Amino acid sequence: MSKHQIAPSILTADFLHLKSEVEMLNSSEADLLHLDIMDGVFVPNLTFGFPVIRQIKSVASLPLDVHLMIVNAAYYLEEYRDAGADWLTVHYEACTHLHRTIHRIKELGMKPAVSLNPHTDVALLENVLPDLNMVLVMTVNPGFGGQKFIENSYKKIRKLKKMIEDAGSETLIQVDGGVTENNIGKLIEAGVDVFVVGNTIFSAKDPLKMISNLKKYS
Ligand code: DX5
Ligand code: ZN
Repeated sequence: MSKHQIAPSILTADFLHLKSEVEMLNSSEADLLHLDIMDGVFVPNLTFGFPVIRQIKSVASLPLDVHLMIVNAAYYLEEYRDAGADWLTVHYEACTHLHRTIHRIKELGMKPAVSLNPHTDVALLENVLPDLNMVLVMTVNPGFGGQKFIENSYKKIRKLKKMIEDAGSETLIQVDGGVTENNIGKLIEAGVDVFVVGNTIFSAKDPLKMISNLKKYS
């Protein structure tokens, strides 16, 4: 039984057939459904808002792992909870009052996670690590699917894994961007627990088989 989790990102799914894409994921071995929310300010791309999240929630059987790549995340926490977010990830680089935001996410009944852009050191999370269910290490620069994996990420993941172990914490490590069948094994060894996978799944001839292949690595 594989311990690691797969969170397909619908960013590269067929948005003209989003309902059937979500239904396909419902029938897969995936563990979470990753939604990339972009505001065109924090990242140079724009995706979708509350109405779409609500509709996805109405057909998804997987928990929603909502990744906020937006500047004013703290303004909208309740709306994301009401739209159906189970996990809510904010970016360290976009939060002035990160500790308060994390605790507000918890109060609202969601699981808090913090995401770090490739340039941001994991050491900056030391004071909030015990409050986090998960840390999302961006393994590409956020904004687009189908990008190349940043090789320096392994060193960063190992450093974070040591921080978590030294703190005796249960915080999960998630990676996002450029995950393929060729690097997932090495990422598991480095200590990754949850894998966001977009392009590798949605560009596959058989996405269900691809998810099953990604799950089988131990
Ligand atoms: C990028 C997003 C990722 C992306 C998945 O900003 O956060 O979730 O959709 O990336 P790929 O397609 O590389 O798996
Ligand atoms: Zn993402």
